[in-house]
Amino acid sequence: MSDTVAYDRHGDIAVLSIQNPPVNALSQAVRAGLVARVAQAEAEEGVRAVLITGAGRAFIAGADITEFGKPPMEPSLPDAIDRIEASPLLVVASMHGVSLGGGLEVALGCHYRIAVPSARIGLPEVFLGLIPGAGGTQRLPRLAGAMAAIDMATSGRQVGAEEAAQMGVIDVVQDGDAKEKGIAYVEKLLSDGAPRRPVSEMPAADAIDWDATYEAVLARARGQIAPAEAVRAIQASVEKPFGEGMLAERQIFWDLLKGDQSKGMIHAFFSERAVSNLPELKGVTPRNLDHIGVIGGGTMGAGIATAALLSGVHVTLLEMTGDAGEAARGRITGNLAGALKRGKISAEQHETILSKALQVSTDYASLSDADLVIEAVFEDMSVKKQVFTKLDEVCKAGAILASNTSYLDVTEIAACTKRPQDVIGLHFFSPAHVMKLLEVVVPDETAIDVVATGFALGKKLNKISVRAGVCDGFIGNRILSTYRQAADQMVMQGASPYAIDTALEAFGFAMGPFAVADLAGLDIGWAVRKRKRAEAGIEGVSTYADKMCEAGNFGQKTGKGYYDYAAGAKARVPNADVMPLIEVDRAAEGTPQRSFTDADIVRYYMAAMVNESAKVVGEGIARRPLDVDMTLLFGYGFPRYRGGPLKWADLVGLDDLLADIRSYGDTMPDFWAPAPLLETLVAEGKTFATLNT
Ligand code: CAA
Repeated sequence: MSDTVAYDRHGDIAVLSIQNPPVNALSQAVRAGLVARVAQAEAEEGVRAVLITGAGRAFIAGADITEFGKPPMEPSLPDAIDRIEASPLLVVASMHGVSLGGGLEVALGCHYRIAVPSARIGLPEVFLGLIPGAGGTQRLPRLAGAMAAIDMATSGRQVGAEEAAQMGVIDVVQDGDAKEKGIAYVEKLLSDGAPRRPVSEMPAADAIDWDATYEAVLARARGQIAPAEAVRAIQASVEKPFGEGMLAERQIFWDLLKGDQSKGMIHAFFSERAVSNLPELKGVTPRNLDHIGVIGGGTMGAGIATAALLSGVHVTLLEMTGDAGEAARGRITGNLAGALKRGKISAEQHETILSKALQVSTDYASLSDADLVIEAVFEDMSVKKQVFTKLDEVCKAGAILASNTSYLDVTEIAACTKRPQDVIGLHFFSPAHVMKLLEVVVPDETAIDVVATGFALGKKLNKISVRAGVCDGFIGNRILSTYRQAADQMVMQGASPYAIDTALEAFGFAMGPFAVADLAGLDIGWAVRKRKRAEAGIEGVSTYADKMCEAGNFGQKTGKGYYDYAAGAKARVPNADVMPLIEVDRAAEGTPQRSFTDADIVRYYMAAMVNESAKVVGEGIARRPLDVDMTLLFGYGFPRYRGGPLKWADLVGLDDLLADIRSYGDTMPDFWAPAPLLETLVAEGKTFATLNT
């Protein structure tokens, strides 16, 4: 019989231990094992109760996600749980570590639940674009009430054992070994003559205002449908008999599993784990990371220093003057106060970081002992070279010299040192202590253990690290620059910035490109345009975007940009001066005008994004399509439920997308030149997913 569920006897108790490392996911073997072991217990002489427990670090982390999308294999999880609940024996779950999704559903199928204090329960299916599919939405409200069940199923949040006990989900919380405590608890239940207590036979929860709750959850979910569907499933638990409620839940689960949102989110789940798992780093030992130097204490430098301090690393921050150093300390102190307020660190940790772990200096010599130095100074090649030349002089042998540049050539920066093998790009996103993405930019000469250290730093700082090759803008900013141009093209062809923002926000982006530009500051792009024109010797040009800046409208910080912020950022009132300026440019350019539907806008923007992404993969700047997907998800506000641009492309179909790209190229052939990789995939009838393994 199955080894995935071990069986042993303690007097009249059969103890079933799930053994499916690393997290006891409910694979077919585990489901079958549970059913078989319950039957074995029932058949054995003298068994009066069954205790289900998990071996290793968790009770059960949920359904086996790797089985999603494969043909169903018997027994299904709902059937297995029904079988457990229907046993004439007393069935008890003893929980430790996590009990998530199907794991919690197994526990809810038992007649009693005990947990250690550190145990956590949750229904994280919404993070996979799903709802619980094995009775979670039917049994949980019977124990905890409709609102508590809605909170858990729509937020996916993990609930600690004590809170779960207060909610009525866990009967007893006891410290110690989960199995031993479980056995003692079952012995007590048996000696007390406790009855079987199937949750499915308990009365349904009280009704609430379902439609209002559904609408509120839908509005909060920014286009994701699973959370609101969970409300409907919980409604069924109240309005229908248990068996019918189960069928309603199952139907919603299957519909969601067939849909694109769950495919996008399951792709994101596996990709965010695979992205920093590079074969060439297997067995490579990273260098030390005890003391980090940061050069420059502006928003970016202070953010990087904060992230490092929060992860327990000693930081020396270098500024040019004492005043600038104090200003940097002020920024870091503010960031840390935010972390303290949000409960990320304790008051004691906060105090230790400020008094011991942070040093602010104006002397390069204070970096002589650092294991890694990250510069976050002005984005200019000659300034970067000065910094690296100086670092090369003062830093100890083996120290890693990193640049936080967002587009400059890291190979060229490395070449000004005598140790190019120790130089790497570490591109953080602002604010660096909040944003999850880290691009690890690897010039050809960088030593492999330096690359491994870049990834080790990302892990320490709780970032999603993506390997990027050297090119203008690396993965993220290079693709951004292309889809931003596509947005500008649409403006010239007849779409308003407001229509574009609205359509893309409906697609799921946190903010449309013009709202983002207002937030970042329109003066940044203006400065770049002026510099590039000066370099090219172009004079007398002033586009509508320049004219906005010439009038002092830099976006949110000046109160006006594409939007007028007098009524607040949320009001999103268009700035009435903008469209007339755009009209002037449209007339001057003579661009043929057309109307854009929301779908046209999304298609045009996404086609540019996918095409550039395919070039980035084809040229080896990103190793795999999933690297691009994770970059856009964690650094650029791409909706997680769409999986990333290349997952989205696979789902909508590459043939049609390539045909669109070719048709857009009628007027701008250079910009819209199809990516060779995309053409190859279409010719071979393949998807981007085939390149992810
Ligand atoms: N199925 C398959 N594999 C899983 C898994 C699952 N449910 N949960 C985790 N794993 C795998 C991970 O992919 C990872 O594999 P690799 O080592 O090969 O990369 C390994 O287990 C360890 O996972 P983590 O690296 O994430 O470890 P962690 O300690 O940081 O986190 C965890 C552990 C909290 C369990 C986290 O993995 C997690 O949140 N897992 C997903 C839980 C989940 O979503 N469960 C619900 C499933 S859906 C469901 O149950 C539907 C239903 O009702 C029928």
